[in-house]
Amino acid sequence: MAVTALLVTGAAGGIGRMLRGALAGRYPLIRWSDRAPMAPPGVGEETVIADLSDAAAVEALTAGMDAILHLGGCSIEADWPTIMAANLHGVVNLYEGARKAGTQRVIFASSNHAIGFWRRSDRLDHESPPRPDSRYGLSKAFGEDVAAYYAFKHGIRSLSLRIGSCFERPTNRRMLSTWLSYADFVRLVEVGLTAEFHHEIVYGVSRNTRSWWDNSNAYRLGYDPQDDAERFAPEVEGIVSDIPLDEAFQGGQFCSPEFTGSTDWIRT
Ligand SMILES: NC(=O)c1ccc[n+]([C@@H]2O[C@H](COP(=O)([O-])OP(=O)(O)OC[C@H]3O[C@@H](n4cnc5c(N)ncnc54)[C@H](O)[C@@H]3O)[C@@H](O)[C@H]2O)c1
Repeated sequence: MAVTALLVTGAAGGIGRMLRGALAGRYPLIRWSDRAPMAPPGVGEETVIADLSDAAAVEALTAGMDAILHLGGCSIEADWPTIMAANLHGVVNLYEGARKAGTQRVIFASSNHAIGFWRRSDRLDHESPPRPDSRYGLSKAFGEDVAAYYAFKHGIRSLSLRIGSCFERPTNRRMLSTWLSYADFVRLVEVGLTAEFHHEIVYGVSRNTRSWWDNSNAYRLGYDPQDDAERFAPEVEGIVSDIPLDEAFQGGQFCSPEFTGSTDWIRT
């Protein structure tokens, strides 16, 4: 079924603002939402200010939407109250709203920080279990499970994107592995809004020469990334963390803050 009404949360954020231009006019109605101010709506658009932790507001937000791209929430490490409100209550409220609205499909912006404590030498795929590197990463692992629950219990087609680093360009060596170009993000969203699947996890990453992830599950669904971070290597190759823990693991600089664990297992 073609998407006629699409809700995008996190519309005032970095990815949301980029998408606003890229998706303009592609669907009959796009409802852009954030708790922060957004640019005024254009033709075929609505903008709605809502806090994801407010269940009633999110229920109103999801009403009438047949597809949702859930980008909203706290996108960095934060204290528990912040993470719980935006990312735990937020994703539950979002899916509960989707269930009540009869929404057909949800794309959930998960993160590489859900798998941040895998080593860089580990090659992960869509079946690799989480190893969160932060409260933020743990909230994304929870979101992936919420997506699975609503897919299998309530039939909402759900795609979780373990997004690497979605910025205009890579800014350090780690991003030569994790970069997702804006254009490839748009390609991945199109797959999420059109492909046949029930519940899947894929990696939000370009076709990087140095990728740590086997993204064949996304390719199977039709994702065909066109960018490779390698062309930025000469500029960013030397930009690394001076903390060995950060350089050993996929989550990078989310790994070392507050770290009180044993490093014994790291060498094995
Ligand atoms: N950019 C990346 O490289 C990257 C990597 C991995 C995952 N992600 C995920 O993708 C999504 C978008 O990323 P981004 O870079 O645009 O993040 P961002 O921080 O720029 O945007 C997130 C938006 O969510 C909104 N928000 C936060 N708490 C909210 C709440 N309680 N209620 C309503 N809105 C709230 C913020 O106002 C913000 O506009 C996020 O969920 C992020 O965790 C991004």
